[in-house]
Amino acid sequence: MTDFDLVIRNGRIATASDDFTADIGISGGRIVTLGQHLRAGADEIDATGKLILPGGIDAHCHFDQPMSDGSEMADDFASGTRSAAFGGTTTVIPFACQQKGQSLRAAVDDYHARAAGKPVIDYAFHLIVTDPTEQVLGQELPALIRDGYTSFKIYTTYDDLKLHDRQILDVLALARREGAMTMVHAENSDAIAWLTEKLELAGKTAPKYHADARPAIAEREATHRAISLAEIVDVPLLVVHVSGQEAMEQIAAAQTKGLSIYAETCPQYLFLTAANLDLDGFEGAKHICSPPPRDAANQEHVWRGLKNGTFQIFSSDHAPFRYDGPKGKKAHGTDASFVHVPNGIPGVETRMPLLFSEGVGKGRISLNRFVELTATNAAKLYGLYPRKGTIAIGSDADIVIWDPSREVTITNDILHHNVDYTPYEGRKITGWPETVISRGDIVVRDAQLQSQPGRGVFLECGMPGIPR
Ligand code: URP
Ligand code: ZN
Ligand code: ZN
Repeated sequence: MTDFDLVIRNGRIATASDDFTADIGISGGRIVTLGQHLRAGADEIDATGKLILPGGIDAHCHFDQPMSDGSEMADDFASGTRSAAFGGTTTVIPFACQQKGQSLRAAVDDYHARAAGKPVIDYAFHLIVTDPTEQVLGQELPALIRDGYTSFKIYTTYDDLKLHDRQILDVLALARREGAMTMVHAENSDAIAWLTEKLELAGKTAPKYHADARPAIAEREATHRAISLAEIVDVPLLVVHVSGQEAMEQIAAAQTKGLSIYAETCPQYLFLTAANLDLDGFEGAKHICSPPPRDAANQEHVWRGLKNGTFQIFSSDHAPFRYDGPKGKKAHGTDASFVHVPNGIPGVETRMPLLFSEGVGKGRISLNRFVELTATNAAKLYGLYPRKGTIAIGSDADIVIWDPSREVTITNDILHHNVDYTPYEGRKITGWPETVISRGDIVVRDAQLQSQPGRGVFLECGMPGIPR
């Protein structure tokens, strides 16, 4: 007779606020006891010398999202969540994207069908609202929010996705009325179209010109505008995948004014620069994402924002397109203009190890801040806290045991996504998530997947909360 399903002993536990050594008793998928010298569990893990952190929440990733340009995402919910789990993430929140003219409910139903039977870890959905008709705003969206889809992304760029300012105001007003969280992709569409036309006319179509077509000023302007629209409506707004100083200054100024403006950044803005788009041949296409990576000074600025609280969330923006093959980055050939290269890079598995090594390991952020940025704040902002995002009695036993001193060289062949490259090939890091536990089930141990596709459950999100 044992007292627990699983006991993890002697590890150093860190949450967003605490740092202590204890045993963790887990039963029925939940944390039931934190203490010293716990009685026996049916299974036991000795975590002496290891760190025990809440499982990561990747609140911005794209799996099996239908594309309108003929490209195809390489990761579905099986490979995407598998890769996430190996990287220390136990909850993902990808996007159910409405096609213009499509009902939002139909987009959600389609996305559930795509996920069915596949995830190895738990998942929720954000919505992407591209067509805020009266029906969508008046009926579908309020009903979906009540059903647990409490956050949605809107775009200021991409012809098939973008909203006009008036539509943005309508969506923000709905978010205010219903208490939902709006996320915004902020880049000035007309400026990008104008610059792109000039670049193409000048024959400047190589991957590196993607960065020139989407300058920081275009991001700054749209960030400022989105914040202004949110201020008019008096509603919280979360600016996603912020690339550097220009947009950050808009966000920080709004936060200083007391507005509820939140911000997310991603590994590509810490570890890549626009120079990565200028690699030999067409290799730069591997790093095409939007907004594009900037320069070393902007990387430092992003690090400062992670430390000083400008950013609440660190997500991957995993948008998995293969380099080779008919649906990937090279689909239109290696002479194709950058405009025909699908935007997005993989990173769901490397998100946490990169930030742990270069952030915590190099003393740029504290361990508590790491937990806050990679798990706790996402749980709070998207209505999953305290079920997810912390280690506490009653919380789901989503726990990752890290070896803080393990040295790893990132290469694509150690990763578990379905993409044929990683932007971080050859990078040496220290610290790795060794054992990954989701609702008490050991999902990854000894570098092996221990769970079957389909064990992950869909999470209905509660109302968004306020992070620290
Ligand atoms: O280039 C990017 N970021 N692709 C993914 C879609 C998005 O806008 O987040
Ligand atoms: Zn975006
Ligand atoms: Zn994205």
